[in-house]
Amino acid sequence: MRLLVTGGAGFIGSNFIHYYLNKHLEDYVINVDALTYAGNLESLTEIENNPNYEFHRSDITNREILEPLFERGVDVVVHFAAESHVDRSILDPGAFVHTNVLGTQTLLDLAKHYNVGKFVHVSTDEVYGTLGDTGLFTEQTPLAPNSPYSASKAGSDLMVRAYHETFGLNVNITRCSNNYGPYQFPEKLIPLMIQNALDDKALPVYGDGLNVRDWLYVEDHCSAIDLVIRKGISGEVYNIGGNNERTNIHVVKTILEELGKPDSLVQYVQDRLGHDRRYAIDASKIRTELGWSPKYDYESGIRKTIRWYLDNQDWMNQVRTGAYQQYYDTQYRSR
Ligand code: NAD
Ligand code: DAU
Repeated sequence: MRLLVTGGAGFIGSNFIHYYLNKHLEDYVINVDALTYAGNLESLTEIENNPNYEFHRSDITNREILEPLFERGVDVVVHFAAESHVDRSILDPGAFVHTNVLGTQTLLDLAKHYNVGKFVHVSTDEVYGTLGDTGLFTEQTPLAPNSPYSASKAGSDLMVRAYHETFGLNVNITRCSNNYGPYQFPEKLIPLMIQNALDDKALPVYGDGLNVRDWLYVEDHCSAIDLVIRKGISGEVYNIGGNNERTNIHVVKTILEELGKPDSLVQYVQDRLGHDRRYAIDASKIRTELGWSPKYDYESGIRKTIRWYLDNQDWMNQVRTGAYQQYYDTQYRSR
């Protein structure tokens, strides 16, 4: 099979390409990525010479570059490329509409025109909004996005749905909870807290630290997407999550404990605007209908992740360039 993967130089996309090429030795992967601040080819050095892999730098809204790739024949599009960080969407919502909505529609149009066999759209549980103290998001939960990021992802989900309903395109939408693991850009909670702890810097916890996220080790997300590619029923949505709900302060304290650093590094800072209180996924559909199950629980996944960042400080230093420092200062100076 020939896969066109978008956003393969990002966190989940790069993990997915590693996972996929290791597992499916006969298949071919074309990676299309604009290499924004979040895209790092350093995350793909191990496979850059793999004969079953090629990379093209392109914005997903750029039809001129994408068209010849589709013309050569694509069996499956796996669409990861997105602006993905909630805090950045509060600073600059326009970039999120451009990539997440227009970019997705451009790809859908090409997939339709070139008769692509399947389009897997990698979405998020954030499109469902927020939960109170109880309950889980199911595939029937109404969409109620609260941030510009999640609103743009919900927009892209609806566009995917429309291409299925109107044009009969074979699509799946996956909605996963928070991922963590190797190659995650250090603007996100877990790598940011690991790195700050290693540097003996303050760990900025938003609000009261009691917001809850449902954590999934990235390899488990990759195995779920692989199953959806092979077995997903056209038009269906699949929630993905491993029942690992933790408060943010719990996550931060596990990291400090694992690294042998003091709790005094925790600094409570001004809350995120519109901060969703709790996410939790009901993944029973993908478990029962496709036979998926995660390999890692939170305790083993977080230890493995901390170990990876300890062993890969070169990678971390490469991605924390001047642009990252500028973002960090803007984001945290005013809190
Ligand atoms: P990321 O920010 O680490 O990577 C995004 C990638 O997309 C980068 O390589 C970037 O260069 C590329 N990109 C951005 N704009 C582009 C454009 N216009 N054209 C081409 N490439 C572009 O994101 P991630 O955390 O790996 O998330 C990947 C996908 O998974 C996203 O669609 C996100 O919404 C979804 N998702 C993420 C999580 C999570 O916890 N990180 C959970 C569920 C779903
Ligand atoms: O739920 C899936 C989503 O998870 C994905 O769709 C997004 O792409 C991904 O970024 C992630 O969104 P979150 O906003 O949940 O992740 P983030 O790592 O930014 O924050 C996790 C929690 O930690 C959230 O409650 C905010 C809090 N936080 C985050 C940062 C960066 C802090 O307390 N301090 C911080 O410095």
